[in-house]
Formats: sequence, C-alpha cells, structure tokens
Amino acid sequence: MRVGLLTGGGDCPGLNAVIHAVVKKGILHYGDEFVGFTEGWRGVLDNTTIRLTLEAIDGILDQGGTILRTSRTNVRKVEGGIEKCIATLKANKIDALIALGGDDTQSVTNALVQAGVPGVGVPKTIDNDLYGTDACFGFDTAVSIATEAIDRLHTTAEAHNRVIVCEVMGRDAGWIALTSGVAGGAHVVLVPEKPIDIDHVCKLLKYNHDHGKKYGIVVVAEGAKLPGGGQAIQGSKVDSFGHARLSGIGQALAELIEEKTGYETRSVNLGHTQRGGTPTAYDRMLATRYGLAAIDLVHQGKFGRMVVLRGTEIGDIPIAEAISKNRTVTDNFLAILDGLEPKV
Ligand code: F6P
Repeated sequence: MRVGLLTGGGDCPGLNAVIHAVVKKGILHYGDEFVGFTEGWRGVLDNTTIRLTLEAIDGILDQGGTILRTSRTNVRKVEGGIEKCIATLKANKIDALIALGGDDTQSVTNALVQAGVPGVGVPKTIDNDLYGTDACFGFDTAVSIATEAIDRLHTTAEAHNRVIVCEVMGRDAGWIALTSGVAGGAHVVLVPEKPIDIDHVCKLLKYNHDHGKKYGIVVVAEGAKLPGGGQAIQGSKVDSFGHARLSGIGQALAELIEEKTGYETRSVNLGHTQRGGTPTAYDRMLATRYGLAAIDLVHQGKFGRMVVLRGTEIGDIPIAEAISKNRTVTDNFLAILDGLEPKV
C-alpha cells in the first residue's frame, strides 16, 4: 500500500518515534511505501511531500520535534479545503492516511474520513487531554521536565524565603500541573478544572510558612482561571481552530499572592521547554506501540479509528468519539491534592 503520514498541531516529544515505528513495520512487514506530508494539514492542502524510507527514519527514534514538521492548519476553514486534500491524496496515489495529532488535527481526519478518505488517527498532546485514551506520548516527557524545574525552584525559593509560582502547560486539563506538582512536592497546585480561590491559596502558603520552611511553591496550569476572570491570554490572536495564546496566569497569581500575604513572590513560565527535546523512555515505548498499532489498523482496513491506550493494552476507538469531549482531571485525581493539603 501507499500510506500517507502527517503530524499536526503543537509538536510533542515522541512524534518521531511514532513515524519510526509506522514506517519500519510498514516497509519490513507489509511492503508499504510512505509519503510524508510536511507541516501537518498544510502539506496536504499544498501537496508538499517527502519520501519516508528506512534511511529517512534511521536514527530519529529519540529525536524531539517531528521530521515532518507541523502546523495548526484547519482544513475546514479553507474554501474547498476537503476537496483539495482529497485531490492531493489522489495525485499521490495514497491508499491510506495516518494522522498524528490532538483533537484539532483529528477533527480534520474525521471530516476527511466522512468524505471517504481511509484515515487512521494516532493521539498526541502533551496536555494528555484527548478523550478515550489513558495516555498520550509526550505527556510523560513534559511532566519530567516540569518536575525537574520544580525541584530546582524549591532550593532557590527556600534560599530567599520566597514564593515561586510555576506556570505549566494545560489548556483545558490540569494533568501536567497535577502530576508535576505532586511529584515535585509543590505546596499548592492549581488546575483549570477548579476555579482558583486566592484566599485559600494564601492560607495554604501561610500555613506552610508558619509550620514548615518559610517558602512556597505554587504550580498552576496555563488554563486555570481566577474567579470572575477568564483565562490569562497573551495578545488577541487566535489560531485557525480559534484557540487564544494562553500565558500569564502565573505572573497574575504571583502579584496577588505578594499583595495579600506580603511574601516576596516570583513567577516562572516553563512554556515550550516542556515540549522540546528528547522523549523519555516511557514516551518512546508508548509512541512505538501506537505506531505499530496504527499501521496494523491500516492493513486491517479499520478506518475512521484512532489507536488508544486502555490500562496497559493498546486498542482503538472511533475518531469521532475521541474528539467528542476533553479528558479532564477527574475527582479521584483532585482528591490527591486534597489529601496533601492542610485543613486551613
Ligand atoms: O499542544 C497543546 C499545547 O501545548 C497547550 O498546552 C498550549 O496551550 C499550546 O499547545 C501552545 O501552542 P503553541 O505552540 O501554538 O503556542
């Protein structure tokens, strides 16, 4: 078969490991040929391709980023976009398309599948908020990077008797904040699923100041909201899927904390460092399993489906189900935070 491959949306450590596994099994086990579309859906709209051979994927398993590059391109916003994509796929004699991406990318895959394109999805997002799968590759790497940063913030915060607010990614779901915050021993963890109660935050910091060392670490997800306020946004631009650029909740919070407690407070925003560099061993393994399962789906003719992790097993679900809602932090995970908090 001639199989097309693309990576869409924000990049994510492990994308190359998926490409590596898909192409390796496809060529070695099925005798496939691969066409890579560059820069996500833009490459399908513009018909910009590279050949994915065994030589092209040699040595990419551990590399961050994506050799196909990526973009946030919403085909459905382009006039005649779906038809243009279908024409490109036809011109390249593509028998099946594998799209690596989060809910935005998969919403386009789904629209193409509905228009008759044999497409398969692989879930990707460091936010880990794609519905229907227990884990996306890239999340473990992002959490490792954030946890290491939080570990480092402890020593400098303690040395200066300061509060430091660390802003991490997590647009709609607080999985990175929750996991890195707990693993990094933060005194306060704030997620989009629960509006921030600033007085409670200050009480927690005061409790720690009075009962422990005189410093505080707060971890906040970029998408968390102050009561009465929306999400903190940088500029007024939105991407082609309508998402604003989130940034600044950490600094807003730091200013409020300093004002209300009198503790000297700083903020740091980890931003895109969480998405850069090499994937962890866990993410390389998960990405590899997804890649192998995706090329198997293609050869089983199971189109319109996305590979998922359920417990420890790889399975697949309809792409339509995966994009139907976000996978947000559940009450039993929020209870972890509750269990670690003093009763103030
Ligand atoms: O891919 C998800 C994500 O990492 C979000 O957490 C974040 O809000 C967004 O991407 C940032 O996107 P961009 O790379 O377009 O700034």
